[in-house]
Amino acid sequence: MPSATPEPGPHRIVLGVAGGVAAYKSAELTRRLRARGYEVHPVLTREATRFIGPTTLAALAGRPARTELFDDPTTPIPHTRLGQGADCVVVAPATAHLIARYALGLADDLLTATLLATRAPVVLCPAMHTEMWESPSVRENLATLRRRGVLVLGPDEGPLAGGDEGLGRLVEPEAIAAFVARVLEGYRGALSGRRVLVSAGGTREALDPVRVLTNRSSGRQGVALAEVAARLGAEVTLVTAGAHEVAPDVARAVAVVRVESAAEMRDALERAFEDTDALVMAAAVSDFTLEAARDKIKRADGAPTLVLSEAPDVLAGLVARRRPDQVLVGFAAETTDVEANAARKLAAKGVDLLVVNDVTAPGAGFDHETNEVVILSLGAEPQRVPLRSKGAVAEAVLARVAALLDRGAR
Ligand code: CTP
Repeated sequence: MPSATPEPGPHRIVLGVAGGVAAYKSAELTRRLRARGYEVHPVLTREATRFIGPTTLAALAGRPARTELFDDPTTPIPHTRLGQGADCVVVAPATAHLIARYALGLADDLLTATLLATRAPVVLCPAMHTEMWESPSVRENLATLRRRGVLVLGPDEGPLAGGDEGLGRLVEPEAIAAFVARVLEGYRGALSGRRVLVSAGGTREALDPVRVLTNRSSGRQGVALAEVAARLGAEVTLVTAGAHEVAPDVARAVAVVRVESAAEMRDALERAFEDTDALVMAAAVSDFTLEAARDKIKRADGAPTLVLSEAPDVLAGLVARRRPDQVLVGFAAETTDVEANAARKLAAKGVDLLVVNDVTAPGAGFDHETNEVVILSLGAEPQRVPLRSKGAVAEAVLARVAALLDRGAR
């Protein structure tokens, strides 16, 4: 069982400041980041120095504020030193120009070179006029950066420089600092160093190239489990048959594998299972499948008779291969006799925890924002989790998983 990661020293934040009016707020942001105990290394673009003096940021950060690639007498490669040493790079404000240079991979000043030289999470906080924010080039550049795992926070709506109002305001410094804290805390939580495999969504079995047999699961609960596991420090693989995306602050920590059928879900989970400390099987996997017709079934041929066969029981297959140090969590969707059926399932499934959902309860189960569950385990009282957000339900489930892992599982 891997031991908990040792406590690192203070987190190092590279604070990039680009040339926009909101650059003045980087002074307050520096203070807020320092107040949380982080080391702040300010890096300004040349244009930023027209809006805020490096001396101000240096005084607040308690270390030099840098602008140039070539003016540091202590090192000829300040960008690699800054980039490699950072736990997080935050650019606030990120202007349209800075976003474009970063998306293109230009490294024509210290800030863009540092952005290319880091493997740490990067948070961009855009600020610009609404027209610029909405321009296709800014949209496309940000889409490119998001695809590469860059986190984008904001902008907010409100008064803009020049007296107009709209979308484009820099997110308030305290909210940026809190977001950075959330990104960093992910690396220190109760699941630090653990690998968690989550399945989500309702599988789809093809009838023909057009039609599918599926269920009402949206995948929201599974996505919430993946997000919370990542925020608790786990390295997460999410195998999902649903359409929901994971939140941007944890996107880097969650490897997403998209599948459609029960067989594809089984194959993807089996590939990842060996390297997994905990499996949370939230997917609604089809119990039945069928031979898909090669061509679209034509109406003129009359209503077909569907011959279903059993789909693989994915969880049962994984339970059969489990190691004693792994934690396995099953879900049970029930509509009748909930408690009795669930108790039978817990005994039959060979899982450590069974999360029971009465999918007919108001506000719970399929495609709701909220859920209400009971967590069953052998030899412990049922834990009732009353109606709350799917994120809060995920927290309750993962707290139990973390406790089992800390005990060395079985
Ligand atoms: N499961 C699975 N493979 C299937 C069906 C279900 O791995 N083909 C998993 C689900 O992801 C869930 C658990 O088994 O974690 C229980 O699913 P559920 O549908 O409640 O139970 P079933 O075993 O299918 O029993 P029944 O449908 O008879 O209630």
